[in-house]
Amino acid sequence: MNKLKNPLFLQACKRKPVERTPIWIMRQAGRYLPEYRAIREKYDFLTMCKTPEIAAQVTIQPVDIIDVDAAIIFSDILVIPEAMGMKLEIEEGKGPIFHNPLKNESDIDSLKCLDPFKDLKFVLDAVSLTKKEINGRVPLIGFCGSPWTLLTYMVEGKGSKNFSEIKKFIYNEPKLAHKALNLLADSAADYLNAQIESGADAVQIFDTWGGILSQDDFEEFSLLYILKIIDELKRKDEPVIVFAKGIHYKLRKLAKCGADVIGLDWTMDLGKVRNKIGDDSALQGNLDPSALYGSKEKIKEETIKILESFGEGNGHIFNLGHGILPDVDPGKAKYLVKVVKEESKRYHKQKISMNA
Ligand code: CP3
Repeated sequence: MNKLKNPLFLQACKRKPVERTPIWIMRQAGRYLPEYRAIREKYDFLTMCKTPEIAAQVTIQPVDIIDVDAAIIFSDILVIPEAMGMKLEIEEGKGPIFHNPLKNESDIDSLKCLDPFKDLKFVLDAVSLTKKEINGRVPLIGFCGSPWTLLTYMVEGKGSKNFSEIKKFIYNEPKLAHKALNLLADSAADYLNAQIESGADAVQIFDTWGGILSQDDFEEFSLLYILKIIDELKRKDEPVIVFAKGIHYKLRKLAKCGADVIGLDWTMDLGKVRNKIGDDSALQGNLDPSALYGSKEKIKEETIKILESFGEGNGHIFNLGHGILPDVDPGKAKYLVKVVKEESKRYHKQKISMNA
């Protein structure tokens, strides 16, 4: 295995002392980068995901261009349902579409049991190729969608405003929903294990739609299956990050789910969350992605506010509170990375003097 030249991200995930706060950005490999768009002009999105050489190249772009402290494998959460037999299309300007969304028990029974080494070999090949090409410069993050977020897309068939199809499903057919969620949790765990086996240094579970549920429903339909995945992981030291958007009320429970890191959206105050959950987990986040529309001065001000709110000490990974927006100036993303690297040093002084 390559020895990492920059292990800061992994150290911060484990709440170990670091000389500055590491930063990566959700959706950092994407359309805001002209270098990404140049490749995207030639290939459609899924072809890029399914061609390990292209996926590896695009994964490494933000490490070269904006200098982040971790790479995340270029793929999508929806490759799991696709590999289970659902036809996926990513439509220009519209996002993902399943033309035959799940409706009944026979649709769920017809989902294939996932064998990641066969059905998602292209991702695993992209992981091992990226690891080789990145040559230990920064760690590589693997990922999957939470069972709940995957099921939301599989039942809605596309992005949604009020999520009426998935809500009808859980209120009318809760047993069926649990059957599908169980299957998805097993598939996601196998998939993350395969990514770790192929070289991923950490894994993140994206629960983008956990926040559309009531508090009890979140526990029943989302958290339970995140716990199941984490429980089924076979890992040595690889950290697990859970990003659940809009979850103000279950933070304490989430912090006890076995994840090393909890990812926070921008509506929460890092310092308050840190006080609330104590030393159970590291925290990742949480600049409003729209702050990158602001001036450099404003970006710096907002960044310092977040560093100040977390305060001194270990266990913070800087990130946006959700994915970077496609029309952001890449110069601003690069500036954010630079500011975090410079301004965060003073929150880690204690460690440096202790070690001196
Ligand atoms: O973070 C990274 O850079 C790695 C790549 C990554 C993508 N999708 C690439 C992508 C990751 C981690 C994801 C996760 C993902 N995909 C989530 C969870 C995170 C989140 O943002 O909430 C979700 C909900 C999806 C589903 C999905 N895929 C949507 C809603 C869309 C369309 C919206 C959009 O941004 O266009 C996609 C397509 C997609 N996934 C693109 C990229 C770069 C855009 C495809 C293109 O180039 O046209």
